[in-house]
Amino acid sequence: MPAQGAFVLSGIGRLVTNDPELGAGVLGELADAAVVVQDGRVAWVGASSDAPAVDRLIDVGGRAVVPGFVDAHTHLVFAGERVEEFEARMAGQPWSAGGIAATVGATRAASKEELIRRVEHLGSELLSQGTTTVEVKSGYGLDVAHEVRLLEVARTVTEERTFLGAHVVPPEFAHDRDGYVRLVAGAMLEEAAPLARWVDAFCEAGAFDVEECRTVLLAGAAHGLGLRLHANQLGWSPGIQLACELGAASVDHCTHLRPADIDALASSGTVATLVPGAEFSTRSPYAPARSLLDAGVTVALATDCNPGTSYTTSMPFVIALAVRELHLSPAEALWAATAGGAASLRRNDVGRLRPGARADLVVLDAPHPAHLAYRPGVPLAWLVVKDGKVVAGSG
Ligand code: NIG
Ligand code: FE
Repeated sequence: MPAQGAFVLSGIGRLVTNDPELGAGVLGELADAAVVVQDGRVAWVGASSDAPAVDRLIDVGGRAVVPGFVDAHTHLVFAGERVEEFEARMAGQPWSAGGIAATVGATRAASKEELIRRVEHLGSELLSQGTTTVEVKSGYGLDVAHEVRLLEVARTVTEERTFLGAHVVPPEFAHDRDGYVRLVAGAMLEEAAPLARWVDAFCEAGAFDVEECRTVLLAGAAHGLGLRLHANQLGWSPGIQLACELGAASVDHCTHLRPADIDALASSGTVATLVPGAEFSTRSPYAPARSLLDAGVTVALATDCNPGTSYTTSMPFVIALAVRELHLSPAEALWAATAGGAASLRRNDVGRLRPGARADLVVLDAPHPAHLAYRPGVPLAWLVVKDGKVVAGSG
């Protein structure tokens, strides 16, 4: 029985546990529920009427409670912005990987303090919208010192840090891309690996080809990093196959797929992390999410927050897009934004509200979790709890 320091959230109209053993359907939903939190963890979930007595009670008045969102793909550390590029794109210009160089220039020129201030600001933006776990990539430094600095800055907001030295070839290596791949897979990785959990690469025309990505990912694996890959965002490549072959935790974007890619994902342990905010902000075709889900692929949703293709920190916006544009049901989209994100990061302590999990949750100012898609653009995070502490919201 939980005792001192514990609190109970009661009067939950609908509780999403994401554990089918605890409640109905894939979301493991319970009605009229309560959650007991102790020492930063979920200690108990069940019917409000059965809740054990604890020191402190927070009655949420029939609101819905969902696991905190797990945003498994962001490029949160950068300086400057590219609003003119966005305006030009909305006037008909296509996105190209070349825009990344502008952010690399601005990011290299910024002080570390400035980068910390900016990432903290974006971090609090996403927390206030209900994201309690976030992955952050480097990739706007592209030399040893600057990539290391970005990972150090990312440490202020998350443990889920990804080394993305292979984002694009920087201007100073324009005539020596092999030399740059050697640097990334060698000295840069050497310095970056102790600061990161993951290695990623951008497998795309204009960035790196599949063999260059293989080199970088295998070098990352040799340094003990887990694997992630940006693939098939702008066109088809064998990137999905590479990610599955190497046992990557996640392959991200997945817009241009062939049936064999879907088969490879379905028979692998690799999660397809979809980022519809990028397609929205680049006016590109959306990923074939329905085909992925129908084939049994594990799908996650993420913001891809970056100043080029998707300058949003809002997982509720991504959920609404996934329902409207990717044809996920509201329940599928919520699962993908919570348990799916956790699978993409190979975490079993987040994304679910069950005894033993981290007490990371969002009380929605809504009676039903589908309001996340039903009321797009409306701030619904009434209370955000991370590690058992209220970190945002007015509730
Ligand atoms: O995930 N695809 C590569 N990287 C980012 C875009 C970065 C940028 O435009 O600055 C993405 O969409
Ligand atoms: Fe990205």
